[in-house]
Amino acid sequence: MPGRDESPEAGYDPMGQFAELAGDVRDPYPMMAEIRADSPVLHVHLGTGSGARYRHDQKAPPITSLFTVTSHERVQQVLTDSARFSSAGYAMTIGQVMGRTILEMDPPEHLRHRALVAKAFRARALDQWSDVIVGATVGELIDAFASDGRADLIPQLTFPFPVRVIARILGLPEADWPRFLRLSTELIAVMRNFDRAVAASRELRGYFAEIIADRRRHTHDDLVSQLIEAEVDGHRLSDDEIYPFLLLLLPAGAETTYRSSSNLLFGLLSHPSQLDAVRADRDLVPQAIEEALRWETPLLTIARTATQDLDLGGVRIPSDGFVAVSLGAANRDPQRYADPDAFDIFREDKQHISFGDGAHTCLGMHLARLEMRILLNAVLDRLPGLRPDPAAEDAHIHGLIFRSPPNLPVRFDPA
Ligand code: HEM
Repeated sequence: MPGRDESPEAGYDPMGQFAELAGDVRDPYPMMAEIRADSPVLHVHLGTGSGARYRHDQKAPPITSLFTVTSHERVQQVLTDSARFSSAGYAMTIGQVMGRTILEMDPPEHLRHRALVAKAFRARALDQWSDVIVGATVGELIDAFASDGRADLIPQLTFPFPVRVIARILGLPEADWPRFLRLSTELIAVMRNFDRAVAASRELRGYFAEIIADRRRHTHDDLVSQLIEAEVDGHRLSDDEIYPFLLLLLPAGAETTYRSSSNLLFGLLSHPSQLDAVRADRDLVPQAIEEALRWETPLLTIARTATQDLDLGGVRIPSDGFVAVSLGAANRDPQRYADPDAFDIFREDKQHISFGDGAHTCLGMHLARLEMRILLNAVLDRLPGLRPDPAAEDAHIHGLIFRSPPNLPVRFDPA
């Protein structure tokens, strides 16, 4: 009999962490619609200051001036104006755990740094990854349950999928994946347990240090080697610049994509005629992906700080005012989308804002789309007769900062 598994991964329940973190807000959209109709730019009065930071004992000044932006027009205006709306505030939140990442940089530093890391996310890199990494990962996960005739698609497919893709893109040995999954989950759950996230970040940094040192000795065909070799205007990334970027890939690339893939499957399974249409005509897959991203935005809110006293839509925002930019509300703005609460893959093609806009537009959006496309096609190919499990009760999407379904029990014809 094998000995008891004493590793920190034994009995670890990453899904539990995420369910708690999402909170049980089922439908924030009526509230957002009210706010948007009333004041697309809203000054939220916080009195003496609120601690919208991860820890109460930090030295960071409390937020005294908070504004929420909910219309599509104003959200776009904020995100495309990095001179007046800075990203530096991330240093006080996510930066506390990740270190200095491109997310918190403003121009011109941001532009220089992004050019270095962006090289690795070009179309050529995506081609390399599509079958060998993304296709293989989905295939393995589906192999594990295809003959069962039933599955919960969140813990068995969409949740493990993007972390494994990132582990492979980074070239991490398979034996390390359980540890990598645990540390990634702890890092991402920073708002729930700050100290554990910091400990995970430290451990991951030590782990990445070994990988980087190894790749400096022998180049591999992986992202770490590409980051080491990237060069723009004679500048290369130092190890201290590579660590935070690798850490950022976990919340930026794994959590969002797990949620967007889950929302896509949920949207189709809860609208059977649209599922049938996509099953019959795979050319509809891209528009199903874009509609799922709009309808249930995986990451609802991002942040900016005013660099000067300014006016936004008739509202005065003081220098240092904290601006919560609601991508979720913008994606349901009736001024831009007819019947915005409906999931409709046949709606008029208008770009959503789930990947942000302006200088910080998601660097991984092509990879995210590729992952969602390969996953959906594999699900449709390999799970014939896919339908919601009639025994499952209360299927729903929840969350206020991030949104996705906690479970997605399905039936299908076993292989
Ligand atoms: C559906 C999945 C995804 C969504 C909804 C999403 C969303 C976003 C958003 C909204 C931003 C802008 C943040 C801001 O302006 O404050 C962003 C930035 C970023 N994303 Fe994604 N993302 C997704 C997938 C990915 C993937 C797969 C990766 C890489 C593996 C990735 C890497 C990044 C990086 C590095 C940034 C920072 C870019 C910069 O600051 O210049 N994302 N993402």
